[in-house]
Amino acid sequence: MANLLLKNCQGIAQINRQENGKPSPFLRGKKMSDLPFLHDAWLLIENGEIKDFGPSASCPDRAEKILDANGRWVLPSFCDSHTHLVFAKPRSKEFVARIQGKDYAQIAVEGGGILNSARHLTEIPSEKLLEDALERIQEIVKLGTGLVEIKSGYGLSPEGELKMLRIIRDLKEQSPIPIKATFLAAHALPVSYKNDKAGFLRLMIDEVLPQVAAEGLADYVDIFCETGFFSSDDTTSLLEAALKHQLKGKIHTNQFTHIGGIEAAHGSGALSVDHLEVLNDSEIELLASSELIPTLLPQAPFFLNDEHFPPMRKMIDRSLGFALASDFNPGSSPSGNMQFVLSLSCIKGRITPEEALNAATYNGACALESQDTYGSIDRGKKANLILTKPMQELSELPYYFGTDMVEKTIINGKVI
Ligand code: NIG
Ligand code: FE
Repeated sequence: MANLLLKNCQGIAQINRQENGKPSPFLRGKKMSDLPFLHDAWLLIENGEIKDFGPSASCPDRAEKILDANGRWVLPSFCDSHTHLVFAKPRSKEFVARIQGKDYAQIAVEGGGILNSARHLTEIPSEKLLEDALERIQEIVKLGTGLVEIKSGYGLSPEGELKMLRIIRDLKEQSPIPIKATFLAAHALPVSYKNDKAGFLRLMIDEVLPQVAAEGLADYVDIFCETGFFSSDDTTSLLEAALKHQLKGKIHTNQFTHIGGIEAAHGSGALSVDHLEVLNDSEIELLASSELIPTLLPQAPFFLNDEHFPPMRKMIDRSLGFALASDFNPGSSPSGNMQFVLSLSCIKGRITPEEALNAATYNGACALESQDTYGSIDRGKKANLILTKPMQELSELPYYFGTDMVEKTIINGKVI
């Protein structure tokens, strides 16, 4: 039996998220500020799973391998529930164009943005896409991510979308960490359907979706519900069609404008509503009364220097919960660093380190329906863990923004 003992931990955080043998519900409101931990503790990993943990006074004296965590904290790996990390090329020209005064929408109208990534995608061989994506995964693993969602959406054609989803399927086999795949069926209108949005949606819903479902290529579906992209009716049509294939929605909405995406998601059995940089009181009320998981992506408004920012403090104060994710993509968030997501959320979103850590671990796992296996330190869960640099208080992790505070990551019980 392969076992590894982490002893002398400064603390282990995000523990005991099981109630009566079942995972606790998604954390909301006041519960977001409660991050259960044990000071001065040990943790034993056996066969890739968390076997046991406890206070140092009861530390086992033997194990096959022992790692002295002296002064370091142990926490579950981040669960990054929203990324687009399969992409062909960076879009740094658009980055510079924005610095010079253009905005995201203007760049998109001029054929840049998502269309730009879609053009690059047709030119690049699948092997290279896979290789680059795998490298990005290895990078985020080092930064502390232990479960990730990846979307298609730069294909914008049946062949392109299937190409992306098959790459994600291959990544699932080759990646050190588990992946959930999302078919982003409607991200932007390709040039060939410029004046035929209905035709494009029919193509995606009637032809591509059944094939995606038949091949088991996706765990979820997605649409960009936004002015200039797709409407709330389009969202309803896609989500209802997807449900017939047992696929739930995780949708992009309320990034720049409110056009009814949350209402559409609520009415069509979606799992999460992602972005929410603009969110009004009636939308907050609707979210409070629904099971939808708000997923906030603070790197996007940061990178786009958008005036809006998800109202994190207000959401928690109004009893909402949310997950935090990176949105790693070449256009609006070219970073999958969840540590920076934490810092940004604390600083700009005025949430505490405990709230941010809950959102990036347990609630992230909930946003991928994986809270029975990931997202917390519980006996029997997968040993995907972070060992921090030495620190007294866990709040030093978001405090030292821009510094990599993850010293080691443990995936399936093995130190990476
Ligand atoms: O989540 N907003 C839509 N999709 C991505 C950005 C895609 C891109 O610009 O390539 C997002 O921000
Ligand atoms: Fe996104």
